[in-house]
Amino acid sequence: MGKSMTELSGKRIVLGVTGGIAAYKSAELVRLLIKAGAEVHVVMTENATRFVTPLTFQALSGHPVWLDPWDDRRANSMSHIELSRSADALLVAPATANFLAKLAHGLADDLLSTLCLARDCPLLVAPAMNRQMWQNPATQRNIVRLQEDGLHILGPDDGVQACGEVGEGRMVEPETICEALISFMQPKVLAGKRVVMTAGPTYEPIDPVRGITNISSGKMGYALARACAHAGAAVELVSGSVEMDAPYGVVRVSVRTALEMHQAVMARIAQADIFIGVAAVADFRPRHAAENKLKKTQVASPVLELEQNPDILADVASLPAAPFCVGFAAESQDLETYAEDKRKRKRLPLVVGNLVQDGMGGDENTVTLFDARGAHPLPRASKQVLAAAIVHHLAEMLG
Ligand code: PMT
Repeated sequence: MGKSMTELSGKRIVLGVTGGIAAYKSAELVRLLIKAGAEVHVVMTENATRFVTPLTFQALSGHPVWLDPWDDRRANSMSHIELSRSADALLVAPATANFLAKLAHGLADDLLSTLCLARDCPLLVAPAMNRQMWQNPATQRNIVRLQEDGLHILGPDDGVQACGEVGEGRMVEPETICEALISFMQPKVLAGKRVVMTAGPTYEPIDPVRGITNISSGKMGYALARACAHAGAAVELVSGSVEMDAPYGVVRVSVRTALEMHQAVMARIAQADIFIGVAAVADFRPRHAAENKLKKTQVASPVLELEQNPDILADVASLPAAPFCVGFAAESQDLETYAEDKRKRKRLPLVVGNLVQDGMGGDENTVTLFDARGAHPLPRASKQVLAAAIVHHLAEMLG
């Protein structure tokens, strides 16, 4: 999923790179952080420079790389203090077993470890090492200690390792590290809330190979699921089939038909504080899905008999202990009239209205929020930016 350019803008990130083969992936990480708007300053350990040259990081970050605690680029030779004081977050990726051990014991024998000890900002680390080194009781002990100390441990992943062995210890992918950092930096306005959502299209089978569906890409719903997760909510996303990965930290439940979507939502809704219906649910389904592929020769002009699907949003909103319900209204004309009508008829505190020609399928959208106070039009923007604005409005309404 494409990120907005602004999610890390104004943030200063100090990226520490230690001596593991995964250091080459940190070059990509710098690029992603910068693309998300961050200012990145790289600090390398001496061993890291054996894997990747400082020049690579200098070129990608646009800033000279820091290596030496005795660097006199700072007038008072206190680069360890200055670098950490100006940072919004310190991220060490990859973090070797040795570096984690140093952190766990508060050692400060090079610039990066000194910086970590002297910091007054959050520290995130992405371990990377051979699976045996990861499983070693000493490393596991250090990880527990680091968690107790309030560090944020990202990964490691499972999979094939540089040494050819397979197991836990691979550094999580740069995309995931960047996403975790973006998430970490967002205000937690939905902390402790449980959100159930729907997104994407439904598919109503006619026969084993044909069906009725629509052009919803799922992008709006996935962006909103991601924004809710960033805001600290526990998110379950009941999704029709789309071509996207589940956002980081979001639990996805994959469904195909409106009936499956209805069932999956109802099974989870009792625990939810918030329900958001973004899915483009088919209002009707074929009454009988043919068991075998329909043949052209069977009938000259076949008639497809349809029956109504349940209205998931209406069913959730009318539960005795209904969660806070947010509906979407997709119209092709008279947005205000139809959206307001949906809000009142289904008794929803908030409806997000959009014209299908403005946003269905694409990366951008134009939406208006309708609540008891009136209509709040938002400027046209990427679905990510709109999702953050919708979450902000929602959080304000929840008080
Ligand atoms: O997926 P994208 O390509 O990013 O496009 C986004 C979108 C246009 C699909 C999205 O912004 C949107 O408007 N989603 C709602 C689409 C829709 O079906 O609207 P509706 O006006 O028909 O339905 C009103 C509300 O009732 C919606 O919240 C819908 O999820 C819900 N509904 C509708 C029918 C039904 N059987 N069950 C429902 O829960």
